[in-house]
Amino acid sequence: MSELASHHPEKIILAAVAENGVIGRDGRLPWHLPDDLRHFRRLTLGQTLIMGRATFLGIGRPLDQRLNLVVSRSLAPQPGIRVCRSFAAALAEGQNAGRTIFFIGGAEIYRQALPVADRMILSRIHGRFVGDTLFPAFSEKDWRLEKEELGSRFDLLTYVRRP
Ligand SMILES: NC(=O)c1ccc[n+]([C@@H]2O[C@H](COP(=O)([O-])OP(=O)(O)OC[C@H]3O[C@@H](n4cnc5c(N)ncnc54)[C@H](OP(=O)(O)O)[C@@H]3O)[C@@H](O)[C@H]2O)c1
Repeated sequence: MSELASHHPEKIILAAVAENGVIGRDGRLPWHLPDDLRHFRRLTLGQTLIMGRATFLGIGRPLDQRLNLVVSRSLAPQPGIRVCRSFAAALAEGQNAGRTIFFIGGAEIYRQALPVADRMILSRIHGRFVGDTLFPAFSEKDWRLEKEELGSRFDLLTYVRRP
């Protein structure tokens, strides 16, 4: 295999998680934090996003200057996104694109991404929130906290998969 063909882009879970594990409410984010949205944009510009259908509909539009891969069995093809009929199909398409792959939610996508991601960048939102969607449980046996940057409204935690 050539060096190019064997190269796999990095796969990163990107999520904002309240102290009680909540990530969503009624199809939306339970908070409004412009600084976290700016951090999300800065990290993901020019890269590949893999998201679930519910997350895409919550955002309401394709995210500009990024490859939007939306995992769904029901969604019709539409401009600005690529609809992938399985998680594996999205992953394969993302690998082909050759850019860093960001799994941007929701919970169903995070659950499937946990066994395959190399890294997780979590915004730990200060406080507890009412919600209907939780970040899936993961074990510190599988993930090592590499970096912790404390902020006033949220902290940034970077985890890397243990070898
Ligand atoms: N805090 C954060 O960082 C963050 C990030 C993202 C989202 N969220 C929140 O999370 C909530 C949405 O999360 P969610 O777990 O309910 O939904 P989701 O993961 O966004 O989407 C679920 C949908 O994705 C499709 N899907 C998932 N796995 C699939 C597979 N293997 N094959 C085919 N289709 C698949 C299905 O769509 P079909 O039914 O069309 O087949 C499924 O109904 C919202 O409240 C959102 O705001 C929070």
